[in-house]
Amino acid sequence: MTATLAGLRIVVSAGPTYEDIDPVRFLGNRSSGRMGFAVAAAAARRGADVVLVAGPVHLETPPGVQRVDVRSAAQMHAAVFAALPADAYIGAAAVADYTPRAVAADKLKKRGDTLVVECVRTADILADLGAHALRPRRLVGFAAETGDLAGYARDKLVRKRVDFIAANRVGQPGSGFESEDNALTVYWPDGECSLGPAAKTLLAGQLLDLVFAN
Ligand code: CTP
Repeated sequence: MTATLAGLRIVVSAGPTYEDIDPVRFLGNRSSGRMGFAVAAAAARRGADVVLVAGPVHLETPPGVQRVDVRSAAQMHAAVFAALPADAYIGAAAVADYTPRAVAADKLKKRGDTLVVECVRTADILADLGAHALRPRRLVGFAAETGDLAGYARDKLVRKRVDFIAANRVGQPGSGFESEDNALTVYWPDGECSLGPAAKTLLAGQLLDLVFAN
C-alpha cells in the first residue's frame, strides 16, 4: 500500500549543474535528471505539493509539479532555500563541488599547451539545510560512488546531518547517470535497505515509501 503525501511540501533537486568558464564553455556532469524527476512525479501523484529545482536537463515537467529551472550550483542553492519551509528535501541533483573562481567576460583564446582553470568550492545545499533553522524534517541525499558505498554513505549521513543517503554504484551497466534503470542502497543511521535494480520510476516510489514510513 502506498501512503498518501497529501498536505506535505516536498522540495526535490534534479539534474546536473553547469558552472560557466566563459561565455561558451562550462564544467558539467553526466546527470540526466531522471531519478529526481521520477521522485518528483511520484510525490505529486501521492498528493504532495512538490517543488522541483532542475538543472539543465531535457525532461518534461511531471504533472502537478512546480518546476524552477536553474543552471549553476549557486542558483540551485538559492532556489532550494527560496522554496522553504518544506517537510522534506530530496537532493537528487549532481551539484558541482567546484566552480571556476571567475567567469571570463570574453571567450578564452588558446595559448600554451596546458590550461589551468582555478576553481573554488561551491556551497553544499544538503549540508547547509542540515544545519539550518528551517531544516526540513526529512533530508535525503544521494551519492554516486565507484566503491565503498557503505563507508562513504555513512560518512555523508553524519557530516551533512541528513536522514537518508541513497547510494548508487556508477560506472556499471544498468545503473547510474544515463540509465533508465538504477539500483540504490539506502542508508539511515541505524539501518540500510537495497532497492532495485528497477526502473527509476519504480524506485522513486519505493524510496518515498522508505522515507515517509513513519
Ligand atoms: N550536494 C549538495 N550541494 C553540493 C554538492 C552536493 O547538496 N554543493 C548534494 C547532492 O545533491 C547529493 C549529495 O550532496 O545529494 C552528494 O554528496 P557529495 O558529497 O557531493 O558526493 P560526492 O561528490 O560523491 O562526494 P565526494 O566528493 O566526497 O566523493
